[in-house]
Amino acid sequence: MKLQKLAIAIAVSAVLVGCNDDDGNNVTCGDGSTLNPDTNICEVNPIDPPVECGDGTVLDPDSNTCVIPPSTGPVDFYNSDNWAKDFPAQHASWAETVENTPADGLDDLLAANPALVTAWAGYGFAKDYNRARGHHFALTDVIKSLRTGHPMVDENGAVQGEAMAASCWSCKSPDTARLYDEIGEANFADNSWSTWGHEMANTIGCADCHELGDDTLRLSRPHTDRATDLIGRTFAAASDVEKANQTCAQCHVEYYFDGSDSKKVKYPWDYWKPAVDTDYADVVDYKGSDGLYQGFTAEAQLAYYDYRGFKDWTNAISGAAMLKAQHPEYENLEDRTTHTMSSHLDFGCSTCHMPKAQNSEGQEYSAHNVRFDMNKMPSSCQSCHDADAMDSLLKARKAEINDLRFGANGVDPMLNEVHFKAQAIWSANGVEGLVEGKTIGQAKANYEGALQAGNVLADEMNSLLTKVRNAQWFWDSATASHGIHAHNPAEAKRLLNKANGILVDAIAEADALLVKYNSTFVYDAANYDSKAKVQPLAGLDLKGMQDAKADFIENRVETEWPVDLK
Ligand code: HEC
Ligand code: HEC
Ligand code: HEC
Ligand code: HEC
Repeated sequence: MKLQKLAIAIAVSAVLVGCNDDDGNNVTCGDGSTLNPDTNICEVNPIDPPVECGDGTVLDPDSNTCVIPPSTGPVDFYNSDNWAKDFPAQHASWAETVENTPADGLDDLLAANPALVTAWAGYGFAKDYNRARGHHFALTDVIKSLRTGHPMVDENGAVQGEAMAASCWSCKSPDTARLYDEIGEANFADNSWSTWGHEMANTIGCADCHELGDDTLRLSRPHTDRATDLIGRTFAAASDVEKANQTCAQCHVEYYFDGSDSKKVKYPWDYWKPAVDTDYADVVDYKGSDGLYQGFTAEAQLAYYDYRGFKDWTNAISGAAMLKAQHPEYENLEDRTTHTMSSHLDFGCSTCHMPKAQNSEGQEYSAHNVRFDMNKMPSSCQSCHDADAMDSLLKARKAEINDLRFGANGVDPMLNEVHFKAQAIWSANGVEGLVEGKTIGQAKANYEGALQAGNVLADEMNSLLTKVRNAQWFWDSATASHGIHAHNPAEAKRLLNKANGILVDAIAEADALLVKYNSTFVYDAANYDSKAKVQPLAGLDLKGMQDAKADFIENRVETEWPVDLK
């Protein structure tokens, strides 16, 4: 740390004497000063040690001056700006992630594809879901999202309107790592989300991926350490490329909050065997008949959740016990087994997202503006790739995936259809939901009760809704994995085709039940073609949520929390 110098008396200071002398030639200097013949003024003589320093300063023996001693408190390395002096190029490129945002505001994915509202009805994602943007926005976006609700403290000191758990901070801020160290992971996690708002000051930054104050990579999240140990990929023993991948895998993975362990973040990796064929029916009591799968597949995760009887939520339209896939980018990348250019199998996240660049002195550094920029591929790549060709390659791959999602018999419209048909079957049997004016909570409770009734209808609906759960899981594993069109397009297509097959069966089953129970319901896709139409059908009032959010931002975040909203 730089020592701050005090203004000190022993430095050059001029002593003016004989002000009344008209020619100044006969200056007499007093004790302790000597005449400088050039300037004709008396200057204080340097004082030999010991110099007496005042309170709060110490003598620096080299300069023989009094200085403020180095702070004994730690430098705040959770604030990335405090790394700028030692690592200017990395810091400056990290700061550029603020530029990675759509020019015309947020990219509202629910408006672009209202079937998402149906798929996630009764869960936070139905309220608000925008396209991801640069790391600089992570903290802002989780606070402003309608998903995190409007947790306000009432007159009795109790929090009302809380929607999320504390672990939702874990992929947004290095302050989470600090709190894990300060108070313990369980004590942090076993709380509601807004409990820690006053601690969250910094967006994703250096301390998330590096040892405090130096360039060594680290895992700051103990849940990632545990998970990578479990599959035999211990961080400390990993290659440089894999170490870099694992820093990203602290967040860009599938995870859930483990209710049996203080709601800590947990990865469902218990049965994953990298590059080994596994029949999950042997490992756990997996009901699927999928046969053998290699590595980190969505089937392995489903087996894990099924075995534990785990659900993220009950869909408020259909009553299905759902899972939400997070964003398994690490898994999908690691699961690539073939590539036209086999060298690419050795690439890690940083090869493509943090390419090497040069600073003004010609030294190489990793560009920390984490994104994919076709125009800034290193020269070693440009011999094969130019930006235009890369753009068309990626667009073509995305188009194939979008065709499976939105084309004739696409998975997204089929999901929408099956959820509403399931609701109509319930209605025909007098089990009331949102369509009968029930609240989200009442609808869920009615369906959960009816599924446990042990009667014929419960058996039929369990069969139908298990298909919905599985199909949506495979679809979500492919579509929530951002960049899968680049990372592993073959896996995306496999999962979407699988979801499609399950949904064809599910819709046939639903149609038969609608007939059996004399339902008058007619499915018309035009009733569900906008977010404005579907959100009310999912029990949501957008304006109300937005107003409550604005109140929360103004009266809690901006008055009590340290975050600087972008
Ligand atoms: C999301 C994780 C992540 C964050 C955040 C991050 N780094 Fe890095 N950093 C890496 C990775 C990964 C590498 C190694 C890249 C490689 O060699 O492929 C790296 C490399 C470095 C290096 C070694 C030299 C170089 O450029 O390759 C320095 C120094 C460094 N980072 C500083 C910083 C500073 C300063 C910050 C904050 C302003 C920061 N990093 C934020 C992941 C991160
Ligand atoms: C601490 C959690 C965390 C870590 C570590 C992390 N990310 Fe992210 N990343 C996020 C979040 C959260 C977002 C979305 C931010 C938003 O939309 O506000 C994101 C967004 C992104 C995006 C989209 C950026 C854009 O401009 O659209 C890319 C690409 C990305 N991350 C790659 C990486 C890579 C590569 C690594 C490892 C070097 C990494 N991330 C490490 C949490 C993390
Ligand atoms: C072979 C190069 C390559 C590797 C390796 C790679 N990515 Fe990507 N990634 C891409 C490309 C290309 C895109 C898509 C960019 C586009 O379509 O504009 C992308 C997209 C993404 C996105 C979505 C960004 C957005 O704008 O929506 C995220 C997040 C992401 N990658 C994270 C990762 C993580 C984490 C890893 C490591 C586990 C990784 N990537 C490894 C090339 C790569
Ligand atoms: C010797 C030629 C060659 C070099 C050098 C090369 N690539 Fe590739 N790359 C390919 C080929 C071939 C494909 C596959 C194209 C296809 O599927 O049609 C590919 C595909 C890709 C893709 C699309 C995603 C994927 O993995 O399929 C990305 C991103 C990519 N390369 C990035 C890079 C980067 C970054 C470098 C430099 C570090 C690089 N490439 C160097 C030949 C090369």
